[in-house]
Amino acid sequence: MKKLLLSLLLVLFVVVDAQALTTAKGGVNVLPEPLPESAGQLIYEEMGCPTCHGYQGGGDGFMAEGLTAKPRNFTDFKSMSRLADMTMFHSIKNGIPETGMPAWNLTDKQIFDVILYIKTFLADSQMTIVVCLNEKREIDVRNLNLKNNYSVGVDRQEFLKVASKGNRVLIEPKDTNVMRYFKKTRRSLVRTHVMVNGEEMDSESALIVVRIRDCVK
Ligand code: HEC
Repeated sequence: MKKLLLSLLLVLFVVVDAQALTTAKGGVNVLPEPLPESAGQLIYEEMGCPTCHGYQGGGDGFMAEGLTAKPRNFTDFKSMSRLADMTMFHSIKNGIPETGMPAWNLTDKQIFDVILYIKTFLADSQMTIVVCLNEKREIDVRNLNLKNNYSVGVDRQEFLKVASKGNRVLIEPKDTNVMRYFKKTRRSLVRTHVMVNGEEMDSESALIVVRIRDCVK
């Protein structure tokens, strides 16, 4: 009986405790703090990149003001579409002379992880779409003035199926993979990017940010 009482008390404690944490809303931190979404995010934040480049990649970190060459806005599609991955790689590995950008002692794999993360800052460009699991969507791309042939690609193929049919881009979340990811990370949203590229080098291209949600939860 004593043992039972004790465990009952313990259970009560746990319940009360959990409530205290979840009700602490309104701008304050909510525990447990979400884990960084990716290795790239962890590196970006731990190495202090936000001090210049900003937590959201806007180039507006608190040290940016004092720099003559201002950090690029990583959320700007136009500026980022001209920046190749290998250029970024080179800049991170060797630094950029005569700017505030130092060289970083990271492995190649770590650099590629952080580049992948930097590319997720593009969220505000062009078009953002929210799709639910089990949902298919068509996106009309007529306004982009693409010639007949264009190509579509997605950065996180494990989460989203993409195809094109005439003027429409078809997207469909890969439910099993997304669900597994949600379970593992305890998140209910994942962001992917669909690129639409024209046939000619200089023809207009676009970025569609697709946010996949578990809408049932
Ligand atoms: C002391 C400030 C500072 C810090 C800290 C810093 N950067 Fe930079 N970074 C700059 C400046 C200044 C530039 C040059 C302007 C530009 O091209 O954005 C730059 C440029 C870049 C570029 C653009 C490369 C290009 O060729 O245009 C990338 C990518 C980059 N930084 C990544 C990082 C990463 C990743 C970290 C952390 C590991 C980091 N930076 C930390 C200041 C900084």
